[in-house]
Amino acid sequence: MINLEISSEFPYPYYCLMKAFFTLVLSLIIGIIHAQKFDDLAKTPPMGWNSWNKFGCDINEKIIREMADAMVSTGLKDAGYDYLVIDDCWQIRRDDNGTIVADPERCPSGMKSLGDYIHSKGLKFGIYSDAGTATCQGRPGSRGYEFQDARTYAAWGVDYLKYDWCNHGKQNSEASYTTMRDALFKAGRPVVFSICEWGTTKPWEWARDIGHLSRSTEDIINCFDCKNYWGGMGVTGIIDLFADLYKYAGPGHWNDADMLEIGNGVLIPAEERLHLSMWAMFASPLMAGNDIRSVSKETVSILTNKEVIAIDQDPLGVAALRWMQYGDLEIWFRPLEGGNYAFCFINRGSQPVTLDQDLKTTVRKYAIDANFMVRDLWKHQEIGTTAENVKGVLLPHDVLMVKLTKK
Ligand code: GLA
Repeated sequence: MINLEISSEFPYPYYCLMKAFFTLVLSLIIGIIHAQKFDDLAKTPPMGWNSWNKFGCDINEKIIREMADAMVSTGLKDAGYDYLVIDDCWQIRRDDNGTIVADPERCPSGMKSLGDYIHSKGLKFGIYSDAGTATCQGRPGSRGYEFQDARTYAAWGVDYLKYDWCNHGKQNSEASYTTMRDALFKAGRPVVFSICEWGTTKPWEWARDIGHLSRSTEDIINCFDCKNYWGGMGVTGIIDLFADLYKYAGPGHWNDADMLEIGNGVLIPAEERLHLSMWAMFASPLMAGNDIRSVSKETVSILTNKEVIAIDQDPLGVAALRWMQYGDLEIWFRPLEGGNYAFCFINRGSQPVTLDQDLKTTVRKYAIDANFMVRDLWKHQEIGTTAENVKGVLLPHDVLMVKLTKK
């Protein structure tokens, strides 16, 4: 133990300086030991369902319970979609002790009971809050209540927190998300921490040790290539934003391309296949956003394509980069575990495009020779080897996703 008693030979100002210095060093050491996120919770990108895209604020516990049932009965859970996340509007006020209160009209049985139901289905329980004073829909945010909220979530059995960025005033994003990370860690229940800061302050540069995933874009819009005035965008707008983000993703820290719009009635099947394929190429979390109680067989078969999901969940965790662009045709590339590769050909235009592409190449440090089998991950069949060019016609807004496996 260092003795900092005042001695007659040690002038008081020096004593104060020394004390301040040692206090600072001590708090830094304690900070390093205690402040961390829960490791190993998201070695591959989280998958699940989130209420926002389909229901917005119009949620209640009946819908959530039915959705939990449907995640099991449709096979989504077996395909890997195991987080059920209740987005904005479950909360209504704080009580006299500052504890966050669930809206009793929407959730009369309470969040603990709802979480228990979700867990009883073998699913994990996710909720939503906001780093500012209020959520995007004007419900109470967690600003100033981070540690109390984290303890409440732990008591409810929460496994996943999506943490938004509305009404943050002059708050610093990194500091705000760090506070909630520390609060969750201190509360002691392992929670996947989903940063939802929309890419505003480049979270890919600072969020790696704070959250398990961070939203890289404004909100997705249910369309293929539209944009709105405040920054929301469809599938292709998000694809463009991901062109340079691959270097920031990896096991435990994923770039989040936002929830899926598959099965929400606007995208045609080709666009839905392209949407899932590209999210898998990005190693993005896959959060379904449709009403899975009334889902069509076609939507289920797209969402549960195991070969495409396996690309998303590849343990190497290296995200895709845009390798080639020829007009409306783009080719994306992703290295996989075991020296294998995925390629995605997408047609963004309104006319068919003809493919005739040699895949023998070196992309970054990855060299591809003639010794790979090429498998179409939507047709579920081998279509040749890398000794020959990939050939075919890609219809408007359609995708060809292939996996290259060493022979
Ligand atoms: C923001 C988020 C969305 C959703 C809404 C809820 O817009 O980006 O994903 O959570 O808030 O209000």
